[in-house]
Amino acid sequence: MKVAIIGAGYVGLITALGLARLGRQCVCVEKNPARLSALRRGEVFFHEPGVPELLAEVRRTDRFSVTDDLDAALVGAEVAMIAVGTPSNEAGIDLTDVRAVAAEVGARLARADRYVVVAVKSTVIPGSTDGAVREEIERASSLQLGEFGLAMTPEFLREGSAVSDFLNPDRIVIGAADDRAAEVVARLFEGFACPVLRTTLRNAEMIKYASNALLACLVSFSNEVARVCERCEGLDEETVMRGVHPALLRVRGRGAARGAGAARLSARRRRLRRLLLPQGCTGAGDVRAQPGARAAPACRCPRHQRGARR
Ligand SMILES: NC(=O)c1ccc[n+]([C@@H]2O[C@H](COP(=O)([O-])OP(=O)(O)OC[C@H]3O[C@@H](n4cnc5c(N)ncnc54)[C@H](O)[C@@H]3O)[C@@H](O)[C@H]2O)c1
Repeated sequence: MKVAIIGAGYVGLITALGLARLGRQCVCVEKNPARLSALRRGEVFFHEPGVPELLAEVRRTDRFSVTDDLDAALVGAEVAMIAVGTPSNEAGIDLTDVRAVAAEVGARLARADRYVVVAVKSTVIPGSTDGAVREEIERASSLQLGEFGLAMTPEFLREGSAVSDFLNPDRIVIGAADDRAAEVVARLFEGFACPVLRTTLRNAEMIKYASNALLACLVSFSNEVARVCERCEGLDEETVMRGVHPALLRVRGRGAARGAGAARLSARRRRLRRLLLPQGCTGAGDVRAQPGARAAPACRCPRHQRGARR
């Protein structure tokens, strides 16, 4: 099975390498010339343990290649996966690159004369795949949904353990517009020994945001527990965390809420808040990113105000 992955950044590249290791035929499409030539030389342009070794391994097979030629990448591909960046901005998230890729793929689908599933791997707010992405594809291809497939497969990689997270996932979420598209994506991920959740596009999109928020809460909570452990004699932070829940040890082990990790978590919370803002809700008070951080004021939306009065 062949997949074209558009955007060979952190997520796109690791996804391509992981799927190639699993036996899929993967072509990465990258428009950044510096990244493209680095990958062609077999060099990885970001730091992530295990990625250079995995790249070296799959380059020895004929299952992985990189190109800037989308036409060539799509020849024979059953899935076109969008893995470009979706930076946060004041309005929410910036879908410019996702829209551009959807339009570029759509223009090729018009000529493809066969069924291809466009799968969004980028993190997008609920409604984006069925909205912006579908719109761009239909406009550029003059096809209707159903003549092409639409899917959303969120990525749960954690920096520092991304390769092992990809190769040993604890779950795979497949959001799809219909069963036909879901079947194709399920075949792409066949071989992983973990539960597979098939759902709608919007649920899949929301699962990613909710997972990010849960991770942020876990990190904040583990920081609070660790602070108490540090102050009381005879407490062993690791044992306490392990006893409460193994997940706490994993987030703590990564030191995620310190330094650069803290900034990323704050960004995740801001993203979730922006997602809720159109409904007039900023969340029920704040979860602190770091020990000592100031809590944000409680939300003034009608729902939370009712809660506060109760
Ligand atoms: N980095 C993470 O830890 C992580 C984890 C899970 C999900 N995500 C999500 O995955 C998505 C990608 O994240 P990333 O960190 O890999 O981004 P990135 O910016 O590192 O990579 C995106 C790549 O897409 C390329 N690109 C953009 N437009 C293109 C086009 N038209 N054709 C070909 N290539 C194009 C860029 O040059 C870049 O190399 C984002 O939505 C992000 O939120 C990221």
